[in-house]
Amino acid sequence: MTATDYIDTQDFTKEETLAMARLGLALKHAIDAGYYPQLLKHRTLGMIFEQSSTRTRVSFETAMTQLGGHAQYLAPGQIQLGGHESIGDTGRVLSRLVDILMARVERHRTVIDLARAATVPVINGMSDYNHPTQELGDLITMMEHLPEGKRLEDCKVAFIGDATQVCASLMMITTKVGMDFVQFGPEGFQLKPEMQQIGRRNAEVSGGSVTVSDDVSVIDGADFIYTDVWYGLYEAELSQEERLNIFYPKYQVNDALMAHAAPTARFMHCLPATRGEEVTDEVLDGPQSIAFDEAGNRLTAMRALLVYFLRPAAAPRAAIEAAKADLDRVLEEVL
Ligand code: CP
Repeated sequence: MTATDYIDTQDFTKEETLAMARLGLALKHAIDAGYYPQLLKHRTLGMIFEQSSTRTRVSFETAMTQLGGHAQYLAPGQIQLGGHESIGDTGRVLSRLVDILMARVERHRTVIDLARAATVPVINGMSDYNHPTQELGDLITMMEHLPEGKRLEDCKVAFIGDATQVCASLMMITTKVGMDFVQFGPEGFQLKPEMQQIGRRNAEVSGGSVTVSDDVSVIDGADFIYTDVWYGLYEAELSQEERLNIFYPKYQVNDALMAHAAPTARFMHCLPATRGEEVTDEVLDGPQSIAFDEAGNRLTAMRALLVYFLRPAAAPRAAIEAAKADLDRVLEEVL
């Protein structure tokens, strides 16, 4: 696996990450203006899903279509993966059939093994460890909604609640670009020390910081308030009764909690949301919410990543002419 794959944003520098974001914004502005650059014409994306998805699936497929390419949805039970064919063999085979792969997997190990075996770029569409395409979309969303007069490096981002893979991802991308990251969550549901270390190492380079606490004062003055569901991760999914006992009402994002943040603070959520649990309707639908624009920027991120990793370049004209002449000769002989 190399940085020709997008498995973990830790594999990329701040400059590379910001370049991807800038590419996404430029493509978004071009398409919003009515110019659809056909950068991925004749290219095919294979989309492996071990879990259901709305945003990730639809944004990848739309991005390929808008840029002139095509996406194939490969769901559990529709391909051999999970039967007796290994993930490695699946990667080797699909590398001969498509130009780029994405995979949403139950276990992070699966997407690593897929990338090791594949000879085409592999994009991680979420695992139990991280959600890097969400990270890039979130970074782009924050760039679009910076408080007046502030740079990314001047902003504080507060994640409220359970240390999901989205929480870990938000910590990685925000500290990568020099922001201050806070998790306000209950003991037992806070980012693990080794995960916090990743953010702290980023912060040493970028100038950001990592704070994890169950004291609400840590979110004071935050520029972005972010939350995710309280379901726990896959092996230890919580029942509704358990999650309400642990998180409610202290960690619910409602108007009272938003009052701790800066008056200009924005509310973000990776979605899907469980309304009435981690966030109230009044916040999710309120004027500070950018959660639905954030969902729209999944498409912005996917366009950027597909172009960045496919690195479209026209084949040399001489090679095209020679291939055409060869094919014309065979067609004449065979038909
Ligand atoms: N946020 C996110 O990944 O949504 P989906 O599960 O719908 O793809």
